[in-house]
Amino acid sequence: KGLFTYDPGFVSTAATDSAITFIDGGKGTLLHRGYPIEQLAEQSDFLEVCYLLLNGELPNADQKAEFVNTVTRHTMVHESIADFFKGFRRDAHPMAIMCGVVGALSAFYHDSLDITNPRHREISAFRLVAKMPTLAAMTYKHGIGQPFIYPRNDLSFAENFLHMMFATPAEEYKVNPVLANAMDKIFLLHADHEQNASTSTVRLAGSSGANPFACIASGIAALWGPAHGGANEAVLTMLEEIGDESKIDEFVARAKDKNDPFRLMGFGHRVYKNYDPRATVMRQCCDEVLAELGLENDPLLKIAKRLEQIALEDPYFVEKKLYPNVDFYSGIILKALGIPVEMFTVIFATGRTIGWISHWNEMISGSYKIGRPRQLYTGAAPRDFVSLDNR
Ligand code: CMC
Repeated sequence: KGLFTYDPGFVSTAATDSAITFIDGGKGTLLHRGYPIEQLAEQSDFLEVCYLLLNGELPNADQKAEFVNTVTRHTMVHESIADFFKGFRRDAHPMAIMCGVVGALSAFYHDSLDITNPRHREISAFRLVAKMPTLAAMTYKHGIGQPFIYPRNDLSFAENFLHMMFATPAEEYKVNPVLANAMDKIFLLHADHEQNASTSTVRLAGSSGANPFACIASGIAALWGPAHGGANEAVLTMLEEIGDESKIDEFVARAKDKNDPFRLMGFGHRVYKNYDPRATVMRQCCDEVLAELGLENDPLLKIAKRLEQIALEDPYFVEKKLYPNVDFYSGIILKALGIPVEMFTVIFATGRTIGWISHWNEMISGSYKIGRPRQLYTGAAPRDFVSLDNR
């Protein structure tokens, strides 16, 4: 042990410095470039936060207009990518498809893969942020067997995503501003969260000099698991499984039972030992969306609120400081927007792409070393090879 620090799970190891995002887990504070997440969610929008994360400052009106225009002009994907989709089974999990197609983007954009060139890095960031919703919606359309819907430049980022998801050649998608605003907020609240598992994966992949599309594909793979981005899908599945308020106690008891691997999904966080500030905004947004759709009595919402109340009072959760996290309410909103559960983590990835690429760009712009953790070897002591006849 004496040679290096042993820290499985990186519980107490900082692998980098970063000027992008600050979290005080004890207080439940989240700042992007110094701005509180609550203020950004209330007064800003997703693309403005993208600019902020990438460039370090809020844009002025001209800078914002130019940034929005540039992202909007990069939303189309190469037509051959549509053929790429045809190779996937229709029942494939959308995250499985996303791991493949995002990595494949590097095969289409050779012209700007010189990572030492700041302009190339910037174009890759634009391309990734702009094309993620297009690819996400194509994944959904492929699954349900509908034709792909092309992006529209006259719509906002969130409106355009909903349009590509729900319009058909036969019928336009009528944008409801309350729902589009909620969609934008979901992207915004997921935009960055410092050195979580997927962002650290992107940095590690990037530290070898891999291209940004390959690095983001590695982030998508790391996000997929239920302990990370897959939690939003797992929360909804859990709420549906609980099914009725009368069964909540049974599930809470299971979560507390050391012999049962079940955990209350959407609760707990490695860093937050207080309310996740994103969860507070998400809860409010959830109320607004359900009120707009006349779904205030949605049974899943009732179960979620009751479960939250019980868990917040239960000594097990109180002592372990297990509070609802960002994904506890996002699934209910997404379901109300008509988005199927298997797309939830894809939406998380779409919002988080700006965080991943901002961290990658921050690392590549400065001095960095290849990430190379060490290990504690626990295998066999040195021994002589035994020939096949003697084994
Ligand atoms: N339900 C029941 N018990 C829990 C839960 C939970 N959701 N989360 C943690 N615990 C217990 C755990 O059993 C352990 O107990 P003990 O000390 O007696 O062994 C203690 O709390 C600490 O848990 P841990 O697993 O050591 O903590 P961690 O920091 O390694 O894990 C976590 C954090 C988020 C993976 C975990 O809380 C969890 O599995 N939560 C449910 C999944 C979830 O909602 N994930 C989304 C995270 S937010 C979105 C994102 O960042 O991707």
